Amino acid sequence: MSSSENSATDVINFFIDGQPVAAEPGWTILETARHHHIHIPTLCSHPAVTPWGSCRLCVVETRYGKRVQVIPSCLNPPVAELEVFTQSERVKNVRRWVLEMLLAECPASREIKKLAAAHGVTATRFAITDPEEECLRCGLCVAVCNEVVGVQALTFGSRGVKKVLETPYRVPNNACIGCGCCVSVCPTGALQKRLDTVRGDLSRRTGHGFAH
Ligand code: FES
Repeated sequence: MSSSENSATDVINFFIDGQPVAAEPGWTILETARHHHIHIPTLCSHPAVTPWGSCRLCVVETRYGKRVQVIPSCLNPPVAELEVFTQSERVKNVRRWVLEMLLAECPASREIKKLAAAHGVTATRFAITDPEEECLRCGLCVAVCNEVVGVQALTFGSRGVKKVLETPYRVPNNACIGCGCCVSVCPTGALQKRLDTVRGDLSRRTGHGFAH
């Protein structure tokens, strides 16, 4: 049976950095790499929520026949016989470029600085809009609040470069149960300071809008 004829229940055999690996149907390249203890750096990916590919740090190079691509590993499933490279020169270059963009986007984040430095990036050529910004706007906090906690206390306002993390209608949100899930998944440390803005004054809660 050829690779394109694999049934939906077959494991998918492919290669990561030359190592043979097997993916369960439905797994992404990133999930397979994690399962086999192969490290791919990520920021916006969390196993508890649907991936949506906002940070682009998880890029890998893939080769399938003559087709060579650089793609986000958290969004793409493997196919049989695919070759994936997590440390090629091309991947390292794209990763450094992504980290420079992230440094410009949230220059006050110690986590991003640390991560960038670990990849040899200590400065950015991109314009910094707000030197105090720590939020990457990766959406992980919004996703975990929505998909895991189920209270939708957070959202994004505006679009494009003006996109900002906020509560619906920009008021402290009584739906927030103060669980701290958003803080714990935040990859840049931005939400630690913002939690009180999101949930408001706990002593004045009415109880309406809490998750049950
Ligand atoms: S982890 Fe894949 S795009 Fe962020």
